[in-house]
Amino acid sequence: MAFLPYGRQFIDAADLQAVNESLQGDYLTTGPEVERFEKDLADFLGVKHAIAVNSCTSALHIAMLAAGVKTGERVITTPNTFLASANCAAYVGARPDFADIDPRTFNLSAPALEKKMGSDVRAVVAVDFAGQTPDMPRIAEIARRQGAVVIEDACHAIGTEFEEQGKRYRVGNHPWADISAFSFHPVKTMTTGEGGFLATNNDDYAAASRLIRSHGVVRSAETFQGLGRGAEEFGPWYYEMQSLGYNFRITDFQCALGRSQLKKLPGFIRRRQEIVAAYNEAFCDLPHFKTPHAHWPTLTSWHLYVAQIDFKAIGKTRSVVMQALRDQGIGTQVHYIPVHLQPYYRQTYGTKPGDYPVAEAYYDRCLSLPLYPGLTNEDVQRVIKAVRDVVK
Ligand SMILES: Cc1ncc(COP(=O)(O)O)c(C=O)c1O
Repeated sequence: MAFLPYGRQFIDAADLQAVNESLQGDYLTTGPEVERFEKDLADFLGVKHAIAVNSCTSALHIAMLAAGVKTGERVITTPNTFLASANCAAYVGARPDFADIDPRTFNLSAPALEKKMGSDVRAVVAVDFAGQTPDMPRIAEIARRQGAVVIEDACHAIGTEFEEQGKRYRVGNHPWADISAFSFHPVKTMTTGEGGFLATNNDDYAAASRLIRSHGVVRSAETFQGLGRGAEEFGPWYYEMQSLGYNFRITDFQCALGRSQLKKLPGFIRRRQEIVAAYNEAFCDLPHFKTPHAHWPTLTSWHLYVAQIDFKAIGKTRSVVMQALRDQGIGTQVHYIPVHLQPYYRQTYGTKPGDYPVAEAYYDRCLSLPLYPGLTNEDVQRVIKAVRDVVK
């Protein structure tokens, strides 16, 4: 009986061929596949700039630097997220802070954000938890009123669309985020192994992001400042480091994989939606079990299927439920331990249990079930039967 993890990549012969061809080319990194992938991503989103990097953690770090977030400033995000959404603030010396979640969407709550805002908040990191957007127009209005930049952590939401005042927008290209950051980690909706990208319509943020990605080095003559050593200095070898950057580059063969995966993305999303619909139908009558559902008029790419289970009411702990499912070859996971409860956050920023009660209550009940395009209908039925047996 094959083990079904909670998430898994889908790799086919076309992906293998794309990577193989790239590996036989002249460039393993910083070559033509990176530019082609960036163009494909920009076209897919209809956005002006897509900048491919080696992870979404790097993309978020770059977003902080490009937006000019500095020591002494605050960055607010949701506690119900992966660590990177908050850590990126700490990387640049700012203080990560949180606002509680909306109990219906498990996303950053706009009213809670409003209460935590202040003139020292330089950025808000809004996460599209499980693939659904938070109330981006309201969040952007609250953030921008105080002069804060809106960064969308869109790791869960490539391909997600939402409607606002009758118009449809795709995550990564809408007026309520200044920069969006995506991940291509294997459990995400499409993969490059490790990897990610930033999307923005802002030319300045894009230019800054490209510089930060590769050591702050410029190579085009019209931007050179010169070293004061006369005409010879701008020879063909010449480059300049004008600001501090990093190595956040992605390889060519990863981008070749990404281009091949991107072609399959609409199919991946459709399959995820089918599985979510099958689970919702199968579990809707279970007492003490809440299925997720789409809260806005939206096309949700469903990165995760997170059930809310009242473990006390069913008389089993979450560990017992997870083990019982594992014994039947079914993997589950918990998304997420609220970030403010992590020892590092408690010791460094003085956060404590009780600070964000909605996120903590959500955490007590959440369990992610297997969701990925490679699940067959038989696999889905296996998950359904096992979950019903264990949870009822
Ligand atoms: C919401 C969220 N933000 C950021 C990240 C970091 O992405 P990466 O692993 O590509 O650095 C993840 C990945 O798990 C995530 O789920």
